[in-house]
Order: sequence, then C-alpha cells, then structure tokens
Amino acid sequence: MANASGFFTPTMRIVGANRSGYCCYNAATIRCSITSHGHENLSPSQSRLPRLVSKGCKLVGCGSAVPHLRISNDDLAKIVDTSDEWISARTGIRNRRILTGDESLTGLATEAARKALEMAEVEPDDVDLIFLCTSTPDDLFGGAPQIQKALGCKGNPLAFDITAACSGFVLGLVSASCYIRGGGYKNVLVIGADSLSRYVDWTDRGTCILFGDAAGAVLVQACDSEEDGVFGFDLHSDGDGNRHLNAGIKQKETNHELGTNGSALGFPPNRSSFSCIKMNGTEVFRFAVSIVPQTIEASLAKAGLNRSDIDWLLLHQANQRIIDGVATRLEVPKDRVISNLANYGNTSAASIPLALDEAVRSGKVKQGQTIAAAGFGAGLTWGSAILRWG
Ligand code: ACO
Repeated sequence: MANASGFFTPTMRIVGANRSGYCCYNAATIRCSITSHGHENLSPSQSRLPRLVSKGCKLVGCGSAVPHLRISNDDLAKIVDTSDEWISARTGIRNRRILTGDESLTGLATEAARKALEMAEVEPDDVDLIFLCTSTPDDLFGGAPQIQKALGCKGNPLAFDITAACSGFVLGLVSASCYIRGGGYKNVLVIGADSLSRYVDWTDRGTCILFGDAAGAVLVQACDSEEDGVFGFDLHSDGDGNRHLNAGIKQKETNHELGTNGSALGFPPNRSSFSCIKMNGTEVFRFAVSIVPQTIEASLAKAGLNRSDIDWLLLHQANQRIIDGVATRLEVPKDRVISNLANYGNTSAASIPLALDEAVRSGKVKQGQTIAAAGFGAGLTWGSAILRWG
C-alpha cells in the first residue's frame, strides 16, 4: 500500500535507517505491480520492467555533449563593451559553446544520455524513467518525451521535464532516488540540458558573458542498500528572490482594449513570449556564496558525514569566485574542487553533469569516491546532495 507521500508502506519489520535517512526493510525486494516477461506484447501503458521497491540507488554512468560553435571572450568583446581580462578576472570564464544551425537541445541531450547508457552498459529499453532538467526545452510542453523517442526506448517509459534553472540537475538526481526508493523504478536517466543563449540579451554585457549551452546526463540505478550512493540531500526555494534573477513572460499586449461586444477587455490575447534573462549579479553572487555552504553542511549532517569525508566538491559552474568562496568556507582544498567553467561558462542545469562527466572520463573522480554536489540559481532555488560515484 502506498502512503500519502507515495512511499510504499511495508507490512514487515523495519530493521533500521540507512545513511540517507530512508528505512531499510528485511526483505530484499517488494513487488508492487505487474511483472511482465518480454516486451513484445506490452500495451503502451505497461512497463517492460517489473516494478521493484529497492533500498538503494547508485550513479553508474555519465555522458555529456556540447555544441560545435566556440565563442571566446575576445569574440564577445566585438559585440559588447567588455574584455577578456575583465571576464576572466571576474568570472573565470574564457570560452562558451553556443547552439547554432541544425543543432538542438534535444540532440545534445540525447547524445549525452546515449553516452551515459553506454558507460552504464544499460540498453535504452531498460530505462524506465527519464527526467530532462531544463528551463529551455525545444517544446513548450516539455522535451523529455522527444529524448525517449530519439533513444528508441520501447515500452513507453515515463519521461518528463523538471524546471528549476541551475538547480535542476540536483533536483533531478534527488527525484530519481525518490522514484527508485519509493516507486520501484530501476534505471532512471537524469539529463541536465540548457540553451540559455536563446534567452540572453546579447547587448547586455552584465549577463551575455556568463552563459553557454550544453547537456550532461547520469544514469541512476536501483541497488542494494550496501551499495547506496545517494547519502543525503537538502533542497530549497525562495520565490521572493525571483526579483533578482528571472526571464518572465512578457506582458500580454492586446489589439483590443474593448471586445466587439464592448465588454471583453484584452481578448483575444496576442501570442506570448519570454523576456531575456534579467539578473542582479551582485545579489545572486551574495546569495550563492552564503547559501551553498549552508546547504552542503545540511546534506552532510543528514548523511552523517563530515567535511573531511568529501573527496570532491562539485558546484554549479556559475563563477569561479563563487566556487572558490564556497570551497574556502567549507575548508575544501583547491585540488579537491571540480571546475571546468573556463571552457563552457554557466550552462545552467547542464553544468554539474558536464563537469562530472569530464572528471570521471579523465580519471579524476574514481569509483567509490564521495562528491558534495550543489546547485543554485533562478527561482530562486538551491540544493545539494552527497553522492558516491559508481
Ligand atoms: N565587461 C566589463 N565591465 C563590466 C561587465 C563586462 N562584461 N559587466 C559589468 N561590468 C562593469 C559594470 O558596469 C560595473 O561598472 P561600474 O563600476 O562603472 O558601475 C563594474 O563592471 C562592476 O560590475 P558588477 O556587476 O558589480 O561586477 P561583479 O564583480 O559583481 O561581477 C557578475 C558581475 C560576474 C555577473 C557577478 O556578479 C556574478 O557572477 N554574479 C552571479 C551570477 C550567477 O551566479 N548566476 C547564477 C545563476 S544563473 C541562473 O540560474 C539562470
């Protein structure tokens, strides 16, 4: 029976809580829906995989993809009043990638997801849930189902978008762990992909120098509690801070102040569109440097771990000064901080999985190591998770 929060309520004896605070039960798995053999005769509403309530989840594969066009600080200095010296000193950014031509966010996200599946040695047909963490989908109604289609997942696994700007990927990871632990899902693809270049005001030197486009993905897989790799998390939002960072819908402009019958004001509305990104950089900077150490401390406490247990600090890649400031406050040495924003800028929901993928593939992050990951950004939203790689 599922309780009000959607979690399975077991009838057997509870034997303890694991490090993430979830309960462990003395049965290996609990079947809670139809088990099917083969997927040839499945109706679209049936999953290929049996639903199992598992006790742990682990990160088993990652991948990333970036657009071809590289834009340097010098390139930007040709269109706004700025310089490589100013941008690199204030942000640490030197280059960024921008979607052009036939490239699409769906294409990037699919490439990143395919690489994550290959590393995990999991077939697309065995994926039973896909999250696309993005604020810039190719379709207003959401982009995740298009990725499901492009990957060729048979059995119609659920795929939907999570919108939380630069915090999106951390929310996606935590959501994956909840769906696995409470919903019996087995292989969850979490993709962070954004193309903020579509919403940048390319005449505003205060914002256009910051952003780039990219996609990154991680496969989160159900496992036994001994292998559990999501130790603790902490998530928040503050709608009041929206005034410091937003890309709101434009005021509806109507052709008709009075309707034809003289009563219907403002109808029919004109087509809506979104404003460019507006940001009070100083406020967002202050917010990030104060809130990120707090959320990581909270996640560590929930995980029953200390700062010294962190092998790698992996923050949303927004500004090198923010990354350095947080590392200093948490007393994490520079050589344990992952940073690649010099090459890609702020890629929003993609930045954490993109940096993770590079660090894993270069051999920096090794199997079994502990990562403190934190996202922060528009909403305002922020959150962190203490993870184990592999
Ligand atoms: N080139 C040259 N000069 C510039 C530029 C530029 N690109 N941009 C601003 N300046 C000027 C300003 O006009 C100002 O000049 P003034 O002193 O004559 O008025 C001066 O530089 C200082 O401007 P500040 O805005 O105070 O510069 P700051 O050091 O704060 O850096 C920055 C700005 C890089 C935007 C920083 O505030 C920042 O990184 N903030 C955080 C942004 C962030 O992390 N966003 C994350 C979330 S994004 C999301 O969720 C979608």
